[in-house]
Amino acid sequence: MKTLRVNLQGRAYDILVGPDLLRRTGELIRGLDIGRRLGLVTHPALVEAHGYASLVVSSLREAGHEVSLVTVPPGEESKSLAQAACLCRELVRVGLDRGSALLALGGGVIGDLTGFVAATLFRGIAFVNLPTTLLAQVDSSVGGKTGVNLPEGKNLVGTFHQPRLVVADVLALRTLPAREFRSGLAEVVKHAMIADAELFRTLEEDADQILAREPSALQAIIARNCAIKTKVVEADEREAGVRAILNFGHTVGHAVEAASGYGRVTHGEAVAFGMLVAASLSVRRGLCPPADAKRLEALLRRFELLPAACPEPELLETYIIRDKKVRDGVLQFVLTLGIGNVTLAPVSDRKDLREALHGVQA
Ligand SMILES: NC(=O)c1ccc[n+]([C@@H]2O[C@H](COP(=O)([O-])OP(=O)(O)OC[C@H]3O[C@@H](n4cnc5c(N)ncnc54)[C@H](O)[C@@H]3O)[C@@H](O)[C@H]2O)c1
Ligand SMILES: [Zn+2]
Repeated sequence: MKTLRVNLQGRAYDILVGPDLLRRTGELIRGLDIGRRLGLVTHPALVEAHGYASLVVSSLREAGHEVSLVTVPPGEESKSLAQAACLCRELVRVGLDRGSALLALGGGVIGDLTGFVAATLFRGIAFVNLPTTLLAQVDSSVGGKTGVNLPEGKNLVGTFHQPRLVVADVLALRTLPAREFRSGLAEVVKHAMIADAELFRTLEEDADQILAREPSALQAIIARNCAIKTKVVEADEREAGVRAILNFGHTVGHAVEAASGYGRVTHGEAVAFGMLVAASLSVRRGLCPPADAKRLEALLRRFELLPAACPEPELLETYIIRDKKVRDGVLQFVLTLGIGNVTLAPVSDRKDLREALHGVQA
């Protein structure tokens, strides 16, 4: 098992990464000084089909905790104010109070929703995250962002609430559908691109073991990813500046998701396409060696992340511009200076962007 310390003032906590950790949850939360009374939030499938919830519940009960299990339906639709309200009411009815803690067992949807409820119920209670998707283990469980969607847009209501502990059990990833697993790999490639050329090489060399989900290979890359995101978050907890580099590939990626209709392409496929566009722009500006852009493309292809079809460049452009208007009027791109290095740069020349969009589609 690997332990990473996240150092945020007054709220330091550990991220544990390793095999077979869920059955040790009770022992792992000992010493956190959280209450006896716990709520565990998850999806029905993680209770029934996969049995992860019972591992966690038994272990917590053995450690002397009283646990209430609450399930929410799978899917992005569950990240809503209505679902948060249901959850709050259910948790109050089963007897949780200000001294209780909430545990999230699932992917980013469960983590964001449960974290949001933990941040607000009784004005905030302790939160422990047990991420079970690759995306959640390398990305959404790190950094303390919680929240829900509105019909008007994603993640519009939320707050920062750092967990007291994150436990990433790599064995849980064995049951993840292949497309979900590969989608999470896009964030892994993203982290390597922004900060870690050596991780990028590891991904190239160990692609087979990673795709076969070998626990030791997964533990190594997940721990490295958490370390990268942790470092960025420590430098800029509230996303005032440098944290924006985590958006590498996401400006165009979000446009691809919106223009394709949500759910058609995976988030990872959309981000993979976005990273290629960012790399192409960077090569055009002489910032990134062409060979590095080629390696990025080859790795994304190896992980089967390049979408078979993408919306027309003109359509993508309208979504990108709309996003810019919503934000702050300037189209800020995260560009690459070569594998392992990024920089923030304005993209005011639309012709540049259009050519990059066309170039990647060709
Ligand atoms: N808070 C953040 O910083 C942050 C960062 C990135 C993404 N997010 C959010 O994360 C969400 C996406 O998360 P996700 O990709 O994990 O999707 P998800 O939570 O919807 O999970 C995907 C599917 O996998 C299933 N599943 C989960 N674990 C499983 C397992 N071990 N075996 C089999 N099936 C399993 C789930 O039931 C679900 O149907 C989005 O809402 C996004 O906004 C948040
Ligand atoms: Zn992402």
